[in-house]
Amino acid sequence: MTAPKALVAGNWKMNGLKAAATEIVKLNDLVNENGAKCDVLICPPFTLISTLMDLSADHVAIGAQDCHMNMKGAHTGDISVDMLKDLGCGYIIVGHSERRADHSESNDVVNAKAVAAQSVGTIAIICVGETIEERQAGNALNVVTSQVTASIPAGATTENTIIAYEPVWAIGTGHTPTIGDVEEMHNAIREVLLVRFGDKASDINILYGGSVKASNAHELMAVKNVNGALVGGASLKADDFFGIISAYDEIG
Ligand code: 13P
Repeated sequence: MTAPKALVAGNWKMNGLKAAATEIVKLNDLVNENGAKCDVLICPPFTLISTLMDLSADHVAIGAQDCHMNMKGAHTGDISVDMLKDLGCGYIIVGHSERRADHSESNDVVNAKAVAAQSVGTIAIICVGETIEERQAGNALNVVTSQVTASIPAGATTENTIIAYEPVWAIGTGHTPTIGDVEEMHNAIREVLLVRFGDKASDINILYGGSVKASNAHELMAVKNVNGALVGGASLKADDFFGIISAYDEIG
């Protein structure tokens, strides 16, 4: 029962033009020269996946930020899991709170997208997280554990599932939960996974996301049951992102 390597993942969201390719080259060089004790992933916008895939060499995996739940068909503007797999993506983020809010994605939709992602052999990074109103009402644990339960597909395995806990109010705000609150939530998510997967639940990485930066990464990543980070703003520049990756040098 050995836990998998931690994962530090960057979600570029709707940022990055062709010129951003230089950041991937730089990031790849930084990891190559200095090493990394965690796996490293960048999820750029769809438009850059192909370009970055060619530049990231062996040191930085490239994934996607979303996918359609159907395998193909009349869905103008959407991207299928086969298309992403075809480009070489090994990871697909599903259920990010910005998708849940901007595109009214329910747990059922997120579950269906995770099914699609896992059906082609990619790892689904399933995002969950409470709003500030839900936390202030004392419902954070209930909301998040319900999202985890409902969003993981029936056929999911510990090999093709990652959970990312991202409190909505911590995203892009510079605010993070207390270390105690992070630990409480990650423990609660692990309990849900234990019920579902038994002993093998420890094989699933639970990432923390929301205002992670180099200066707070060590403290957050050292928390029990925090097995990596999902990073937005601080993943756009290679130097900033490598500062977060380096937090694992001391965590081991
Ligand atoms: P920030 O790191 O910019 O807060 O974004 C977090 C996030 O939403 C990653 O998916």
